[in-house]
Amino acid sequence: MRVTRNARHPFYERCHEVLDEIRQQGRYRTFTPLSRLTDRFPVYEEGMAPPPEGREVVVWSTNDYLGMGVVPEVMEAAVAAVREHGAGAGGTRNIAGSSPLHTELEAELAALHGKEAGLLFVSGYVSNQATLQTILTSMPGWICFSDQMNHASMIAGIKGARGSQTVIFEHNNLADLEEKLAAAPADAPKLIAFESVYSMDGDISDIAGTCALARKYNALTYLDEVHAVGLYGEEGGGVSQRDAVADQVDIIEGTLAKGFGVHGGYVTASAEIIDFLRSTASGFIFTTALPPSVVGAALVSVKKVRAENWRRDAIFERVHAFRQRLRAAGIPFTMTPSHIIPVPVGDAERCKRISARLLREFGHYATPVNYPTVPVGTERLRLTPGPSHTDEMMDDMVRALSVLFREEGIVHTWQPQPEGVG
Ligand SMILES: Cc1ncc(COP(=O)(O)O)c(C=O)c1O
Repeated sequence: MRVTRNARHPFYERCHEVLDEIRQQGRYRTFTPLSRLTDRFPVYEEGMAPPPEGREVVVWSTNDYLGMGVVPEVMEAAVAAVREHGAGAGGTRNIAGSSPLHTELEAELAALHGKEAGLLFVSGYVSNQATLQTILTSMPGWICFSDQMNHASMIAGIKGARGSQTVIFEHNNLADLEEKLAAAPADAPKLIAFESVYSMDGDISDIAGTCALARKYNALTYLDEVHAVGLYGEEGGGVSQRDAVADQVDIIEGTLAKGFGVHGGYVTASAEIIDFLRSTASGFIFTTALPPSVVGAALVSVKKVRAENWRRDAIFERVHAFRQRLRAAGIPFTMTPSHIIPVPVGDAERCKRISARLLREFGHYATPVNYPTVPVGTERLRLTPGPSHTDEMMDDMVRALSVLFREEGIVHTWQPQPEGVG
């Protein structure tokens, strides 16, 4: 129903102003309707509901990095949980939503990261926001040292912690972090918040170095492993597991929505930290628990990912194969030590246009990443090939990018770069 007032509220006008501004800057967001085909992943059908003769598209930008969301056992677990326990959790964890599945998944995640306990949240975003805000308001005088490139969800939690102080350190710069830690009062409670794999640039932080500084200056460490869980470490416990430093990190946060292909967020830590969050974090207490279908599917996915290495091996082989093709075709890309391949374009309009033409003319989809997700001038396509991208798909994609980059006048600036993971 439409709201009727004597005078139109100024907020309506403000919406138009802001949207016009966004359009002028070429940053207006439009959704691309794509339906995933469970038996053909990473092939999707264009359109909201697959039309009878819907066009097939190869997607290069999914965050379901390993394709776990379409693994039959994972999908079956979701269906079985719906049949057994219904569609929704029926309440918050304290009211009616704490099934044995939730507890089992928390124990599985704690074991994955070598921690005493784990706590589920409704998303990775909420786990970051709620945990950081709750910790940083738990006693007076907190100082949060936050990496300049931290995700919006961490920033939301840090900014929302009224009364705490925030010190932003240069991205992945331990010298700058140390200078800032040393300048802070020795007795202030400190927390260092950082990520392992940074999703837009694909670079990886020095977890051991950060933890050494944390010990020296008595700071708590909070690590977001959202883009690493499932992919790094012998069981998919993330970069902290790969680098054998998980025990040095106080709190490890992750998502079930990317490498595990389902949905939900979590933190793992010592028993007292988890019990504290369970009892005090508003973003945990006052929202309906994850539905049983999601928890059941995630549990099977985490168990499979821990036990089976082939998908981890396959993703890095595929990333390497794709980079070789890009290199051979002279298409510029940023060499990263991770599975993420940024292809720089450097202009919001052009980035969107290349993505749109790629889809329309060649049947490939790659997300254009523009401001505010990345700084102006560093607009890019962000490609994440996975175990299911075939050689033929790669050849076709590289051919399409070559044509588009030539026609769009993008100078091929690629310089030989050292080999990273891929
Ligand atoms: C670094 C980082 N942390 C947290 C999140 C939020 O995770 P989720 O998608 O599970 O809410 C994201 C999402 O993209 C992310 O990139």
